[in-house]
Amino acid sequence: MKKIIPVITIDGPSGVGKSTLTYAISKKLKWHILESGYMYRITAFFILKYNLSLNKKIIFKLENLKFNFKIIRNELKIFFHDIDISNKIHSQKISMMASKIAKLPYIREWLLHTQRSYKKFPGLVTNGRDMGTIVFPDAILKIFLKTKFKIRLKRRFIDLQNRGFKIDLKTLNKELKKRDYQDENRIICPLKPAKDAIIINSTNMNFKETVQVSMKYIYKKLKML
Ligand code: DC
Repeated sequence: MKKIIPVITIDGPSGVGKSTLTYAISKKLKWHILESGYMYRITAFFILKYNLSLNKKIIFKLENLKFNFKIIRNELKIFFHDIDISNKIHSQKISMMASKIAKLPYIREWLLHTQRSYKKFPGLVTNGRDMGTIVFPDAILKIFLKTKFKIRLKRRFIDLQNRGFKIDLKTLNKELKKRDYQDENRIICPLKPAKDAIIINSTNMNFKETVQVSMKYIYKKLKML
C-alpha cells in the first residue's frame, strides 16, 4: 500500500498567528514547513525591484528568480543573491504588492507547483490563505485561524517595529483592512475556510493554549492514519 505524505494546513488572515503556530507544530512533529505567503512576498519583491509590468509574460522573467532559504538560529532566512532579504519582504509596501499580485491567476498557477513540491516525508505543516482549499485539498487536517482584528493589528504593528520599520497605527489599520478585503474577496482562491476545516478562534486563548488545542486535533487525526 502506498503511504501518504501527511499535510496539515493553517489558513487565516494576516497577523492571526499562523507562522508561530506552524513553527510550534513542525517542531513537535519534526515535519517540513512551507510559509506560502513568503512566495508571494518574494515574487512581489522581485517585481518591485525590477519594476516589472503585470502581465502573463512576467512568468518568463520570474523563472529567473533565484533565492535561497536557510534556517539560522531557528529562524527562516531568505537570501536573494546572497543578500538577506528576510526583513525587507515584510515591509508594508511588499505586503500590499503581495496581496495585489495574489489576485492574478498566472501568478497563482506558477506558484502552485512550487508549493506542492514541499510535500515531503515525514510530513508538511503549511500556512497561507488557500492551503486547505486549493493547494492541499487532501490535507489530513485543515485549521482555519481567527482572532479579533484589534489583536491582529497590534501583532502586526509590533512585528513591523521589531523588524525595524516605522509605521503609524492609523496607516497600518487602513492597509491591513484593505489587504483583508482583497484577500477575502478576490475571484480566485479567496481566503476562506475549507468545508472540512476546523475553526480555531484564538481571541481568548494565549499562544500555549492555541498550540494545545491544535495538537489535540492533530494527534487524533494521526491516530486514524
Ligand atoms: O501570509 P502573508 O501575510 O505573508 O501573505 C502575504 C500576501 O500573500 C497575502 O496578503 C495574500 C498572499 N497570499 C495568498 O494569496 N495566498 C497564500 N496562500 C499566501 C499568501
